[in-house]
Amino acid sequence: MENSFNSGDILKLESLIELAQILGQQGDYDEILRLIVEKASQFVSSDSALVMMINPKTRDTIKTIYAQRSADDEQNHFIHINVSGWVIINNHSLLSQNIKSDNRFRKNLFEKSIVKSTLGVPFKVENVIIGTLLLLNDESNSSFSESDLSLLEKFSAVVSPFLHCTQSIAQYFIAPLPKQTLLSKYAMLGLLGKSKKFIELLQAIDAAARCDVRILLEGESGTGKELVAKAVHKLSTRSKNKFVAIDCGAIQPNLVESELFGHIKGAFTGALSDRKGLLEEANGGTLFMDEINNLPVDMQSKLLRVLQDEEIRPVGSNKIRKVNVRIISASSLSLQKLVFQKNFREDLYYRLNVYPIFVPPLSERAGDIPMLADYFLNKFSAKQEKEIEGFSEEVLDFMKLHHWTGNIRELENCVERLVTLTTRKQKFIDKKILPLELQKELKKLKKNFTDIPITKSLSESLADYEEELIRKTLIGVKWNQSKAARVLGISEHDIRYKMKKLKIKRA
Ligand SMILES: Nc1ncnc2c1ncn2[C@@H]1O[C@H](COP(=O)(O)OP(=O)(O)O)[C@@H](O)[C@H]1O
Ligand SMILES: [Mg+2]
Repeated sequence: MENSFNSGDILKLESLIELAQILGQQGDYDEILRLIVEKASQFVSSDSALVMMINPKTRDTIKTIYAQRSADDEQNHFIHINVSGWVIINNHSLLSQNIKSDNRFRKNLFEKSIVKSTLGVPFKVENVIIGTLLLLNDESNSSFSESDLSLLEKFSAVVSPFLHCTQSIAQYFIAPLPKQTLLSKYAMLGLLGKSKKFIELLQAIDAAARCDVRILLEGESGTGKELVAKAVHKLSTRSKNKFVAIDCGAIQPNLVESELFGHIKGAFTGALSDRKGLLEEANGGTLFMDEINNLPVDMQSKLLRVLQDEEIRPVGSNKIRKVNVRIISASSLSLQKLVFQKNFREDLYYRLNVYPIFVPPLSERAGDIPMLADYFLNKFSAKQEKEIEGFSEEVLDFMKLHHWTGNIRELENCVERLVTLTTRKQKFIDKKILPLELQKELKKLKKNFTDIPITKSLSESLADYEEELIRKTLIGVKWNQSKAARVLGISEHDIRYKMKKLKIKRA
């Protein structure tokens, strides 16, 4: 058994202490389980992880929570049940480099599985097993080691006491499901939805807002990460101070430092006066660091120092200033993978990712599409002074079936365009205004419900179509903008705005 830790392990132990601090503040049993399973999975970089809580008397499973569901769920679940059973019966942890040839299990029991390595530890309170934690690695990933096992046993020892609130478990069974309060609370902050995935997201946000910890939001572009960050800020004790956002992907690498830390006059060519950095701007409040994966490497170490010492030094200055900022970061790529590829500092990753929240893509919450579409319809109808009541059934079908690669942002843009293309007289958005290729897509989607290859994104093709329509109309009325606006059923303000946005000019 290996007992010495390397620097990576020390980082993990530090973040384990942070985890214990959060768990101590957390009253939500489900959220405690979710954090535990996610953190465990990160600690030993596993492909999938599961916590199974059991009733110590009857040994019935009372709750299972997964992290990183993989494609092979059924097989994984089968392994989980078997390994969990072994851990409980033997009252011992289990490390298996290759579960398929492990003679502690019946021969060929797991032959269908793609899982190779397995790690299982019990959660114990007063020497009674109350649950198990299981981690799996696929054949493509590396095997778990003795030091992973040792780390995970320490992990279990630290988190187990937080799982022993039988009162909360009992409450769990009678847990009231009216999520209406939660939904309306967040609807007021602009977050709409009602699907299961969305409710889970809100529960995580709600729980995170209660503790003043750093949050890492991971999810595809356009899923609402920034909106979530704003909601957390508004609900936190920092809400009276500023919410400041920086897009690490949009700023020139050599300007990031002065942007974050500020500069003094003359610090570099073009620094004509002193300027406060965003970290100071957000003092007492929240700094949202979007696309943190794009943070240049030298800035990664500078940011790390800020997080450790809570102080900044503006570019060109030799004076240090104290700041107190909560950092919420967001990434559309898996930061853990970047750490693995050595493209992101591991120590910074652990410091930013104190509280992980995954924001699901729209495809995982398709049930929310009609509600979101309707919300955007009202928003843009009002903006364009139209009185459109709704979508025709076919357009709605299309929206439900279409694969929104740009997520909510793409849906929002699409509805905006559809509203523009609908004349004042029309009460419903009809499929006839969909560009031909999308009408074709609709037909196909309805026929076989499977994805067809689409060369352009919906918003791109809508933009093309819109541009063509406006251009043709303008040519038809000899570039008289008010006439064109009337023909198209939009205001003159709108047509000017559209012409500018779509770069339509008289040739
Ligand atoms: N749950 C939601 N309800 C309503 N609008 C949303 C929701 N989530 C996101 N949006 C809207 O979708 C757009 C994209 O969201 P944003 O937070 O910028 O996504 P991301 O930061 O993940 O790229 C924004 O206009 C935002 O207001
Ligand atoms: Mg964004």
